[in-house]
Amino acid sequence: MSQVMHYPELMVCVLAAGKGKRMRSSLPKVLHPVLGKAMLEHVLHTVEELRPHKIAVVTGDGSDKVRAHIGDLANLEWVIQDKQLGTGHAVRQCESVCTDVEDVMIVCGDTPLLRCETLDALARHHRESGAKVTFLSAVLDDPFGYGRVLRDRDGNIVGIVEERDATDEQKAIREVTSGIYCVKQDVLFTLLAKVGNRNAQGEYYLPDIVPLALDAGMNVQAVHMNDVREIVGVNNRKQLAEAEAILQQRIIEDWQLSGVTIEQPHTVRIEASVRIGMDTVIRAGTQLLGSTVIGDECCVGPYAVIDNCWIDDAVQVHAFSHLQDASVGSDGRIGPFARLRPEAQLDSKVHVGNFVEIKKAVVGEGSKINHLTYIGDATVGAGCNIGAGTITCNYDGANKHQTIIGDDVFVGSNTKFIAPVRVGDGATIGADSIITRDVSPGGLTLSARPDQRHLPNWRRPRKKGG
Ligand code: UD1
Ligand code: MG
Repeated sequence: MSQVMHYPELMVCVLAAGKGKRMRSSLPKVLHPVLGKAMLEHVLHTVEELRPHKIAVVTGDGSDKVRAHIGDLANLEWVIQDKQLGTGHAVRQCESVCTDVEDVMIVCGDTPLLRCETLDALARHHRESGAKVTFLSAVLDDPFGYGRVLRDRDGNIVGIVEERDATDEQKAIREVTSGIYCVKQDVLFTLLAKVGNRNAQGEYYLPDIVPLALDAGMNVQAVHMNDVREIVGVNNRKQLAEAEAILQQRIIEDWQLSGVTIEQPHTVRIEASVRIGMDTVIRAGTQLLGSTVIGDECCVGPYAVIDNCWIDDAVQVHAFSHLQDASVGSDGRIGPFARLRPEAQLDSKVHVGNFVEIKKAVVGEGSKINHLTYIGDATVGAGCNIGAGTITCNYDGANKHQTIIGDDVFVGSNTKFIAPVRVGDGATIGADSIITRDVSPGGLTLSARPDQRHLPNWRRPRKKGG
């Protein structure tokens, strides 16, 4: 990422009050996630990189939900727009917080693909050109839905017309405004006060400050964007999926360039907050979600799902394993078909094999739990071997109880621990035992086994007439 300037003289207003009717959702539009992060969070993280004086977020519909999701940050001002009377009206609500700054940048909360380098280019050009109003523009193959930039024969900007107000001739224009503006604070609110609402939607449009500024003889500039895909505004679920696909490609390319091998990248989902170490291989169909962190030299997948987990270096997570809110120490081997549920904490060199479920349990270094087992509400020490079919019976129908297993314990297959129960270091449990009382360290413990009989003259039944 190139160096982005800092802008202590800049106020950023993020418009996020729109109803988002076209989403057809009870969730405010800007809270819809794009690769695991709300659209508005993407925008806020991007503008924060400019280190502006402050960021004002304009909310309206669902403002409680938006505020609860984002939380109160030090340089964030919440501004309420009671009635959604348009983008121009939304910016006017920010007048009292836009003080002590030279410029105001206006960004929409529904453009999650924006990069801070692009905002930096906008703010720089605005400053260097001495313009009163500068906006980002882009030439799109399909400009449908966007405000079109109107120019005269000499190419000078003369205004902006919204899709719904445009004539057929204007609709053919492919240069659009991104909805992102940088405006001198000393003219913004006088221009906005003059904006009317005589248009197809009866709204006060922010883009209408452009012709008003030109009429007043002000310098208005448009900055062309390098990557037009950054301005994709999400207004419906189709655009939400499109934005996600573009961001996914960007994220995958970033990881590839920083030393991660990704097999069949179009089949893989890597959410925005995930971190991956060098020389790790992500195999086909894998999903890395939430705040998952994966170390160096790991191999994950194919078809593994890892949600919000911490995975240390040199770990192998084999096919079809599902890990959630769990941690795996270095050199671990998980799966295939393993399930780590919340609060499973595996120390280094732990092996967890097929059809094993671990929940709320700590497993010590080098222990092996390789087949068909449930370990829940438990502690397993270091160097243990837990046989196939072992079950910690942790739930009595009302309460959960703990199973505590010491170091270097060998548990024979098909053992049940009726919790609460403790097993001392170095103990061996015979196969098919039901352990109801604490087990002393060392020695062999086993529960009574059913008698084994042999009937030498017994014959298998035969099919009638066979
Ligand atoms: C807007 C621009 C259009 C531009 C496009 C780029 C206007 C009138 N149109 O159109 O020129 O090409 O973005 O994506 O500005 N909002 C409020 N309060 C309101 C209305 C909207 O806060 O009263 C917020 C919305 O939450 C949204 C943003 O402003 O985040 C843009 O509004 P939206 O309705 O999506 O405008 P577009 O039709 O996309
Ligand atoms: Mg929009």
